[in-house]
Amino acid sequence: MFDGIASRYDFLNHFLSCYQDVLWRRYCCKSLKKMVAADNAGSVSQNVPGYARNVRLLDLCGGTGDFANTFRKIFESRCACKSSSQKGVAQCTTEKGNAHDFCVEPAVIGDFSYGMLAEVKPKKIDAFAVQLDAMKMPFAERQFDVVLNGFGMRNVPDARGALIESYRVLDAGGYLCVLEFFSPRNLFNKFFYKVLAPLFIPVMGAFFSGKRDAYEYLVNSIIRFLPVDEFCKMAEECGFEVKKVKMFDGGISFGVFLRKPVGAP
Ligand SMILES: C[S@@+](CC[C@H](N)C(=O)[O-])C[C@H]1O[C@@H](n2cnc3c(N)ncnc32)[C@H](O)[C@@H]1O
Repeated sequence: MFDGIASRYDFLNHFLSCYQDVLWRRYCCKSLKKMVAADNAGSVSQNVPGYARNVRLLDLCGGTGDFANTFRKIFESRCACKSSSQKGVAQCTTEKGNAHDFCVEPAVIGDFSYGMLAEVKPKKIDAFAVQLDAMKMPFAERQFDVVLNGFGMRNVPDARGALIESYRVLDAGGYLCVLEFFSPRNLFNKFFYKVLAPLFIPVMGAFFSGKRDAYEYLVNSIIRFLPVDEFCKMAEECGFEVKKVKMFDGGISFGVFLRKPVGAP
């Protein structure tokens, strides 16, 4: 299904959300930066005082790479490092010559859909696109410091499986940030998702992408998914600490910040 809408995916995302999706991703990345910076003041293994910290990023269900792209921009503030071998050295600076705190290693953008991943290349993101299944990833344990999952959790057949896999590939102390439309709980959201959204989202989706089914699925998948509190409970059962839950636009979407405990195997 995602292969069929890949070429119009970014445009429709921005259009249907009135560009709010851009702001939601930015908020999530800025919050992650604050969290990782606060940890940096402590005793994270890679942290050497005076050195930029390398961040290993996986954008899971990453689609066209928008979330990874936002993350890089916010973490690196125009890092001037030319290659990954330069990253993390003390001289590492921004284009303006100021020292900065983080270098993001070439990111991994992982997704099931080849069509969505094909849209990553024109964006020239410093990243590898990897076709994979979020519930069975081809990575060893503890390979990443941050895993992003933007609007992917409700699309995988087994959200618990994706949580368990994300936990496995995260290093101890690492973060999983889930940006998602959760099943509506309050009256405003029930009205929005059960009455308004089914009226205009499939029509707009059909008009711009020719794939009405895909946009009917989008609305139905939100109603069928878990409410945010149940998702957080499931994440805790999988071993995560819930660090923060941020509601966007009255509950249209949420950013859920989870952490693999420091010292976890
Ligand atoms: C709504 S898109 C989100 C894309 C992007 N993360 C964003 O923020 O816009 C959901 C993505 O999840 C991917 N997906 C669905 N099931 C998957 C699975 N089992 N493993 C990996 N990716 C999956 C789809 O191919 C699709 O690209």
